Amino acid sequence: MKFYPTDKPLHGQLDIPGDKSISHRAVMFGSLANGTTEISHFLPGADCLSTISCFRSMGIDIETNPEHPDHVIVHGKGLHGLNAPDTVLDCGNSGTTTRLISGILAGQDFPCTLTGDASIQKRPMNRIIEPLTQMGACITSERDNGCAPLQIIGQPLHGITYHSPVASAQVKSCLLLAGLYADSATTVIEPALSRNHTELMLRHFGADLSSDGLAATIHPGNELSGISVKVPGDISSAAYFLAAACMIPGSEILLRHVGTNPTRDGILRVIQDMGGTVTYRRLSASGGESTADLEVRYTPLHGTVIEGSLIPTLIDEIPIIAVLASTAEGTTVIRDAGELKVKESNRLDLMVENLSRMGVDITGTDDGMIINGGKPLHGALIDSHLDHRIAMSFAIASLAADGETEIRDAECVNISYPEFYRDLKFLLQQ
Ligand code: S3P
Repeated sequence: MKFYPTDKPLHGQLDIPGDKSISHRAVMFGSLANGTTEISHFLPGADCLSTISCFRSMGIDIETNPEHPDHVIVHGKGLHGLNAPDTVLDCGNSGTTTRLISGILAGQDFPCTLTGDASIQKRPMNRIIEPLTQMGACITSERDNGCAPLQIIGQPLHGITYHSPVASAQVKSCLLLAGLYADSATTVIEPALSRNHTELMLRHFGADLSSDGLAATIHPGNELSGISVKVPGDISSAAYFLAAACMIPGSEILLRHVGTNPTRDGILRVIQDMGGTVTYRRLSASGGESTADLEVRYTPLHGTVIEGSLIPTLIDEIPIIAVLASTAEGTTVIRDAGELKVKESNRLDLMVENLSRMGVDITGTDDGMIINGGKPLHGALIDSHLDHRIAMSFAIASLAADGETEIRDAECVNISYPEFYRDLKFLLQQ
């Protein structure tokens, strides 16, 4: 797909599609609850549809409606209501589906195999295999390479206290879900706090779960009950337009009903550190998740340092932050972000490679990058490696670059934001 520089600023108001992490969890927890869970503003992206299809394969009735794809009704069958699937569970491109479902499957009374696309089959699963095995689970990597396909034979599980070496909500959530099926409490302690959607939502479903700083503990025993979940707009999707408005002179936009959970709002703090202004309007909260309308307007930005406990709060936004830093004056340093290498693609290498092609002065480091921004960007051929966040980041970069930018496999935005190009066009035409 080809992209060209914009001669117009971004203007107007936009509803941001539902949060991917929260949409996944609403389907999963709804499936394990007794009774009906009604989900509004669900994200009908390919990743969340993979989660729906896995639970349907395990006998859960999930109503979707092509006329209203953001409205989903899950008829849960309780903690012990899943059936053995008669096929391999296909998690598609979704790490969240793969890792969270593994925690659930570890405690069932049936065997099953799960896998996904070429990217999923390269992503590290030892981070869940090891602690689940400590809990008594029987989980193996079919090719013995620490990756999917995973074979899981459901077993009685034991509670553990686990000091996770990585700040990962997928690891934490996997173990807390396995903890629902254990014979005693399970505690996960992280090196820095990752997104806490599982803790907030499972509690609303009735689980006995507590959080204390970097530790989250689940006590098994409670049944879950179906609830209504109103999914906030995904701040990770809003990030592309926030960045575009900061980069393109004259822009001023309002993004409605965006999730502002403090474990996810690092992008807003970075924009402010770089000299930008994001104004919160109409603050609200639902199910423990805070939301706001975010107003942002063009301001010339400068470089910053992004590191430490800020990293997990913006881990998925680092590609678009790198684009923003390329257009900002001065140097931006990103460190402690080695996790970027094991996302849907190696986002560290891909950002360095593709931004270099656009003429950006960028150097990759072991755990991040150094960007000397403020020089003109040039259109280039961009390889997305089928990574949705790489494609969206370069669609935004192309607006500020001279000449033509071609993004390979640009339709992969379908994973998290099927209407991304339509919404970008809308903001450019107001
Ligand atoms: C997610 C957690 C993060 C994030 C991913 C979604 C989740 O991954 O990158 O897009 O929904 O729990 P890690 O837990 O691997 O950091």
